[in-house]
Amino acid sequence: MNILLLGSGGREHALAWKIAASPLTDRLWCAPGNAGIAQEADCVPVDIADHAAVIAFCRDNAVDLVVVGPEAPLVAGLVDNLAGAGIKAFGPSRGAARLEGSKGFTKALCRASHIPTAAYEVFSAAEPAKAYVRARGAPIVVKADGLAAGKGVVVAETVAQAEAAIDQMLSGALGAAGESVVVEEFLTGEEASFFVLCDGENALPLASAQDHKRAYDHDVGPNTGGMGAYSPAPVMTPEITARTMDEIIRPTLKAMAAMGSPYKGVLFAGLMITAEGPKLIEYNVRFGDPECQVLMLRLMSDLVPALVATCDGQLADFDLRWFPQSAITVVLAAKGYPGAYQKGSVIEGLRAAMEVDDVEIFHAGTAERDGQVVAVGGRVLNICAIARTLVEARAQAYAAVAEIRWPGGFCRTDIGARGLVRRTP
Ligand code: AMP
Ligand code: GLY
Repeated sequence: MNILLLGSGGREHALAWKIAASPLTDRLWCAPGNAGIAQEADCVPVDIADHAAVIAFCRDNAVDLVVVGPEAPLVAGLVDNLAGAGIKAFGPSRGAARLEGSKGFTKALCRASHIPTAAYEVFSAAEPAKAYVRARGAPIVVKADGLAAGKGVVVAETVAQAEAAIDQMLSGALGAAGESVVVEEFLTGEEASFFVLCDGENALPLASAQDHKRAYDHDVGPNTGGMGAYSPAPVMTPEITARTMDEIIRPTLKAMAAMGSPYKGVLFAGLMITAEGPKLIEYNVRFGDPECQVLMLRLMSDLVPALVATCDGQLADFDLRWFPQSAITVVLAAKGYPGAYQKGSVIEGLRAAMEVDDVEIFHAGTAERDGQVVAVGGRVLNICAIARTLVEARAQAYAAVAEIRWPGGFCRTDIGARGLVRRTP
């Protein structure tokens, strides 16, 4: 098969690594890719926001399957346009991508289908939103309705903070994403990332993972796209997983099919495991980044048949095998991330880091210049390891981190610590 992968992050490097390893793959391209993906695929400078350009590339190169990494092209309807051109693509349609594209849409679906989630109301004017906040009290959570590149959620500790967030979002600071806001109950518990492949009707659960969203050790500092992850997540016991499938995932798929937008692709449920059981924080319509990196390390089966079965509505009797080991990824980010950061600094020691046993390195914001790897993004490298236990995987990943010489970067030193507290094997 000829496969075109879209995206340029660590998630896409992990997908490229797994797709390139498949005996079914004849050719693999990635648009736009990065310096690490270039080891697995031919990186091509196709603008993935230009749907006509993507379709033309597929026609010129006899592409059999397009795999969409990030959410923006999905929400923009790329998969619909590819389907219209007769090209198979892994990922949800525009209508199904509303599960990530509009928080108000997802909350209404939860309410109608009795899916456990935080109590909420939606507002498009500031005064009623603030009155609701005052009535409910803090802590409370304010979210912009649309895609806001990670800047659309404020977990407010005080009523004043929530009011300021409402003013900021509804004032147009986030553009169309902030035309309305969801104000919701603050949930307490442990977060987990849960992934399922869905073919429009059937759902196949993937392995669980846990992300570390805050920038600095001990979960302090600003929220980021994710500073590290590990899999499996011990909080996702078989009982919690079964409840998540029955109470959250299956009712969602049923509701999406009933409204004429059957969900096809990978569905990522951000969960809070509360004292009453799993509750949905949010959906994403793509693999998590960096969760994808640990999932791909643990996936024993070939990924490509699973992607095709998802597109073709053939997941009913499909099964995937997983390595029982623990996988971890530590994100190296540019100093300043998630705020302003510098680009262009040189990263050394990658070769030595890759030689550490059990280690795999996936690139995110890197480029190659004059034979050197330079940092060009906020999250830059994913130092991953897979080993018999989380303790061992963690030790190997941090041993590889120690080989890397990059004064412009930083990482958290406590990735996986929560999993260890829970005494995973
Ligand atoms: P999101 O960008 O939607 O993933 O939200 C960022 C983070 O905000 C989540 O990972 C949670 O840690 C936190 N969060 C979002 N909604 C809630 C909620 N209702 N209760 C508690 N924490 C939340
Ligand atoms: N790591 C969380 C996300 O991909 O949204």
